[in-house]
Amino acid sequence: MAFSFFFRDHFILDRLADILSKDIFGQKEIKIWDAGCALGQEPFTFAILLSEKVGYFTFKKVKIFASDIDETGEYQKTIENGIYPYQDLSRIPKDIFEKYFTKVSEDKYRIVSEIHTRVKFVKHNLLGLNPFESNFDAIICKNVLLHFSYLERVKVLQMFYNTLKDGKYLALEQTQKIPTELVDKFKQVFSDVTIYKKV
Ligand SMILES: C[S@@+](CC[C@H](N)C(=O)[O-])C[C@H]1O[C@@H](n2cnc3c(N)ncnc32)[C@H](O)[C@@H]1O
Repeated sequence: MAFSFFFRDHFILDRLADILSKDIFGQKEIKIWDAGCALGQEPFTFAILLSEKVGYFTFKKVKIFASDIDETGEYQKTIENGIYPYQDLSRIPKDIFEKYFTKVSEDKYRIVSEIHTRVKFVKHNLLGLNPFESNFDAIICKNVLLHFSYLERVKVLQMFYNTLKDGKYLALEQTQKIPTELVDKFKQVFSDVTIYKKV
């Protein structure tokens, strides 16, 4: 259930990073929630993509909360160590890989501290419907809602709506649609990618 890898769905994440790279100027801080982050591959991918667009100095304004129910207890440890086997990293473009990872042993690589320090793990059950923070500039929730019932999806998406700042963004996987109950709350930003803006 925790299947993920670095640069999965990167076209969605890259488009969101594009939007936020414009929003970030004029803001003191940008707060992002990656809900259902698995072992951290997705929040770290997003952090890398955003860092590439805004540069290291501005990137210090970014805070990414990576949450997961983490039934194994392994996710927190992995994210806090920031060390991954090459198998998880093989889809990263070579120049990005060389810039953001250092070798620690035969098959293991550590993400650089500039990226690592911007991502904080939170153990959190989405179905508790009790957000740990609010006023997010963006929420990323990919390949998670499909595991929930329709009614659970509506409730979780309503929670995301409540915790986003007005006019800010929600990114879902390409096959996930907004339920009819909530269509007037989220407006799709581009026709070709599942990024929505809070109405
Ligand atoms: C398939 S992974 C998706 C990882 C990543 N978002 C991606 O797209 O690659 C689904 C993740 O959702 C998490 N998850 C499942 N139910 C959850 C819940 N009720 N609350 C929080 N996380 C949950 C699982 O632990 C798993 O890590």
